[in-house]
Order: sequence, then structure tokens, then C-alpha cells
Amino acid sequence: MSEVKLTVNGRAVSRDVEDRTLLVDFIREHLGLTGTHVGCDTSQCGACTVHIDGKAVKSCTVLATQVDGASVTTIEGLADGDTLHPMQSAFRTHHGLQCGFCTPGMIMMAVDIVKRHPEGLDEETIRKELEGNICRCTGYHNIVKSIEAGAADMGGAKMAAE
Ligand code: FES
Ligand code: FES
Repeated sequence: MSEVKLTVNGRAVSRDVEDRTLLVDFIREHLGLTGTHVGCDTSQCGACTVHIDGKAVKSCTVLATQVDGASVTTIEGLADGDTLHPMQSAFRTHHGLQCGFCTPGMIMMAVDIVKRHPEGLDEETIRKELEGNICRCTGYHNIVKSIEAGAADMGGAKMAAE
């Protein structure tokens, strides 16, 4: 067992966990934040994507102990109180989800994509960047549209605050 101390969605948390505990299990089972999903056991699907120190990472690929001291943002931490993050609003407006299972990971990845492309995004770039996120409902068309719209709506202030 090891003690893991993290900042999650702006809150300091600490838990004693088995050394083999994956970050995604820490988030879901120890913290009860079940918006981060598990969609595969091969690190392919991206449903578990969170931000670690501001960068999108598949949380099934790291041990909780490896990110001791880091700042983690999950889908639950993206909205500002009752105000959705612009990327969340864009997915709602442009019907960027069907069953919704992949959506938290898609949105966390989308925010990271926008931050890494300050020059702007075209459809080809978005589709390439989404290669690590699988939508099993195959609704990529509206996901891409949502990300294009979300990117346009994301102000510099919100991006800097992430
Ligand atoms: Fe992490 Fe599928 S659960 S990539
Ligand atoms: Fe169903 Fe993507 S909306 S898996």
C-alpha cells in the first residue's frame, strides 16, 4: 500500500491504495467520480481520458502512484459550477453524442486538442487527433462538428485557467 496525494478537480485528496491501482480505478472507485469511463482493457478506446497537469492522458495507462502530487481534472471538473465548459455546450448543441459512453473522454481530449492547436483546427486535424478515442456508436461526424464549434467558442481565458 502507498499513500497517494493528488489535487482532483481543484480539491486535495489523499488515499492509501495498492501499488497496482490504476489511476482510472483510483478516480472511479476511491473517489467515486464515475464520469471517467472504462471502455476497453487494451488502452485503445480513450473513454478514460483525463487531464494530468493540463494534458490529456488515458487514465488506464498510469498507476495512481505514478502521478502522486499531480493535478488531475476529470469530466466532473470541467464545468464552472452550473455553467458548462464551451466544449461540453458544443457537444450538446451539435449532437456530438449518441449513447454517451465515449463522450467524457472525447470532451477531455477535445479540450486538449484545442489547447495544442492555437493556430486553429480543421476537420482533418481533428480526425487525426481523435485516433486514440473510439466511438462505438460511430458518430464521428457530429463529434468533429462539435469540436470545431467548441474550439471556436473556447476563449483564451478558459484555456489558460485549465
Ligand atoms: Fe482507457 Fe480504454 S479504458 S483506453
Ligand atoms: Fe456511444 Fe460514442 S456515443 S460510444
